[in-house]
Amino acid sequence: MKFNKRAKKVFSPVLGKYFGDFEIDKAKGCYLYSTDGKKHLDMSAGIAVCGTGHCHPQVVAAATKQLNKLIHVCIGVACYEPYVKLAEMLQKVVPIKNAQFFFCQSGSEATEAAIKLAKYSTKKPGIIALEGGFHGRTYGALSMTSSKMKYREGYEPLVPEIYLAKPDLAEIETLIKSKQIAAVITELILGEGGYAVRPKEFITGLRKLCDKYNVLLIVDEVQSGIARTGKWFLSEHYGLQPDIVCMAKGLASGFPLGGIAASAKLMAKWSPGSHGGTFGGNPVCCAAAIATLEVIKKEKLLQNATKTGAYLTTQLKKMQKKYPLIKDVRGFGLMIGVDIGDWDTVSKIMTYCLKNKVVIIPTGGGGTALRFIPPLTIKKKEIDQALKVFEQALKSL
Ligand SMILES: Cc1ncc(COP(=O)(O)O)c(C=O)c1O
Repeated sequence: MKFNKRAKKVFSPVLGKYFGDFEIDKAKGCYLYSTDGKKHLDMSAGIAVCGTGHCHPQVVAAATKQLNKLIHVCIGVACYEPYVKLAEMLQKVVPIKNAQFFFCQSGSEATEAAIKLAKYSTKKPGIIALEGGFHGRTYGALSMTSSKMKYREGYEPLVPEIYLAKPDLAEIETLIKSKQIAAVITELILGEGGYAVRPKEFITGLRKLCDKYNVLLIVDEVQSGIARTGKWFLSEHYGLQPDIVCMAKGLASGFPLGGIAASAKLMAKWSPGSHGGTFGGNPVCCAAAIATLEVIKKEKLLQNATKTGAYLTTQLKKMQKKYPLIKDVRGFGLMIGVDIGDWDTVSKIMTYCLKNKVVIIPTGGGGTALRFIPPLTIKKKEIDQALKVFEQALKSL
């Protein structure tokens, strides 16, 4: 062990860890190289972040070039090319017509920005978030998060006028009618909530409800966005046009970058100076994000996510028939959840897989499902390798 012992002395114990003492030196493509010299197949991609694979040469080259040119100036001080170019590229792929952007550093800040825009532009204070959702850990984001109630414990009172509702249209309508609601925020697959998929009829109904009452619909695509599901954004699978889309994780292949998109009409209501930040849209992060989008196009990663995702889903569903402890296999593209139903079993499977050099991480309130979210560059051969070890893990129980 190289770093963990030292880390324990210098870091707060607050951070949760999936694997206790796992530590790595470097990563490349779909593989993590641990400090004990082993090569691990990574089915977690840094929690759905490294879509282009670890250290993709084009991303590394773009970031390196930018490092030597301009690391930081702050957009409040001066404008720079990668910042503008990235937004122009995103404009072509977000599920919002005539979109404009706000860039930040993380998913939590993206959801924070979304609710600030919603409140500011509508002049209404209320936000409805749906039970089981995860929108981040900063105060506003945490106030909308309920995938684990433990995340909220010890932090009350949370931000006022954020209402948690069941994903039930009648309940949401009652809330909208009784409060001053600016927006409803939802994920389409619950990224930290067990990969439950929001039904299409519910999302279509929610869109109609929001339109009826002039309430904004915020879709949190922090985990599902940027080609993860075989479309640029999962909203496309639903035929959905949100009012605000949140993005982060996969946007810059591991560089910290988040953002929101909304129509130019809505953005026009956000006055200069009413939101901002020092690092948002950092030049190196933007250069990495531009390269990320280029790699996704050049290497046809949308198609690969669809194709390899369908193969992985089919094989996992076959396994489900053989191993009844698998309760469900669900998701889109390379965002696949395998519901096991209890944490002890999930933990045993993860530990077995790690010992056998495959990294698979959990999701869910009590960590009751496993998620398969490899780099979007993954090949059938690697999926077979992961499936083999996963099946051995099931057999070993
Ligand atoms: C759907 C969703 N929203 C928001 C967040 C928060 O993102 P971050 O951890 O970058 O703050 C996450 C992170 O897992 C997420 O999955």
